[in-house]
Amino acid sequence: PTLVVLISGNGSNLQAIIEAIRAGRIAARVAAVISNRVDAYGLQRAADAGIPTETLDHTAFASREAFDQALQERVDSFHPDLVVLAGFMRIFTPGFVQHFAGRMLNIHPSLLPLYKGIHTHRRVLEDGGNEHGVSVHFVTPELDGGPVIMQAKVPVLPSDTEERLAQRVHVQEHVIYPRVVKWFVEGRLKLENGQALLDGKI
Ligand code: GRF
Repeated sequence: PTLVVLISGNGSNLQAIIEAIRAGRIAARVAAVISNRVDAYGLQRAADAGIPTETLDHTAFASREAFDQALQERVDSFHPDLVVLAGFMRIFTPGFVQHFAGRMLNIHPSLLPLYKGIHTHRRVLEDGGNEHGVSVHFVTPELDGGPVIMQAKVPVLPSDTEERLAQRVHVQEHVIYPRVVKWFVEGRLKLENGQALLDGKI
């Protein structure tokens, strides 16, 4: 199976997937890494791993539709079985999401359905919550609202800052995202009637 990974930044989740492939845990190939930002460090990680990269600068497009159309064409050119969003910080048009329905995953740093959107770590701390975490889900038109496949929890500690909490969440991200990608490429994971099924079960 072929993956295309979309990033906007650091790319540590991309790195975790690359390493899982290299270690033989995921039998897939990353055909390309595409970033909407030229300065994304993940582009370097991809290049270091010998993976082709592309940059599609969203600010060069007149509208969200025009950007999504161009991005869709670039992604399609690699014929991926799965599109992996790994810190891709753009909201998609419904048409884009529809096109990749059932074959696009996202990782979101919260225990969904809690804390959709950005600045999740900060908001958890502001709310005085004692539990936080990360979710991997299928992408549907509702932002961060698609069916959750796997979550990992982390405690919120009294000594936490936004950075410390984010770091603790990241450790879990790098554990669960490769695992879910593995399930997908093995054909064990499907989106059916709006539900995520693993081995045919919810
Ligand atoms: C992660 O926190 C992920 O949950 C969120 O964006 C961040 C990406 O981190 N969607 P990285 O670029 O993979 O290091």
